[in-house]
Amino acid sequence: MHIDILTLFPEMFQGPFSCSILKRAIDRELVSISLHNIRDYTHDKHHTVDDYVYGGGTGMILKPEPIFEAVESIKAGYAEWQSGGLPVILLTPQGRCFSQEIADELSTYSRLMLICGRYEGVDERVREHLVTDEISIGDYVLSGGELAAMVVVDAVVRLLPGVLGSEASVTDDSHASGLLEYPQYTRPAEYRGYPVPQVLLSGDHAQIARWRREQAIRRTLKRRPELLDKTSLCSEERQLVNRLKRS
Ligand code: 6GU
Repeated sequence: MHIDILTLFPEMFQGPFSCSILKRAIDRELVSISLHNIRDYTHDKHHTVDDYVYGGGTGMILKPEPIFEAVESIKAGYAEWQSGGLPVILLTPQGRCFSQEIADELSTYSRLMLICGRYEGVDERVREHLVTDEISIGDYVLSGGELAAMVVVDAVVRLLPGVLGSEASVTDDSHASGLLEYPQYTRPAEYRGYPVPQVLLSGDHAQIARWRREQAIRRTLKRRPELLDKTSLCSEERQLVNRLKRS
């Protein structure tokens, strides 16, 4: 996968992209990421990227020209972009709410383009005529789309084949199955008098699997009950949910 990121602050990305899983994925050429400074696509002496809002009101918004020209110039080099069908995503609090499902969907493309909004917004023509999708990472306001773009990149890249050590670690994740993850313990078996649940030490793999599934269901019901509405559960598990709801 190749990811192009348009931003006014390319330097913000250096930290997250040079550590841990993302760094390893880039080093192993499982993903490549290009950062493009929107300011490089201006033509005036002052490299102006924002302007006042027509009709009045406070604040400045991003001008359309540098964003359109940046996107077109990046697309120009690649046939895949010409044929269309690849996502050009604006990161904005007005977008659809990012989820594991959207991360799964985005991980299937060969290229992604992410545009980081800044200031009080972006000229509406960018939304109407340039981007194919708008994504938000939650119902709170960030000062720009950069942190959101990093979140999206991290969630997508870890799904790419070969990025994580074992494929199982992706399917076990919280949210991958529609449930939160079950509790996990490592050594020592007793710490400050707090024991690891006996079943995990039993070596009975079927019983451990059952315990984990039940714990995941209990935890999800307690913390994120709305997730259970769209999770597939067997009839026995549905009964457990109903029993827990009544107790
Ligand atoms: Cl994508 N951008 C900004 N500025 N704020 C946000 C966001 C994005 N997602 C949640 N809050």
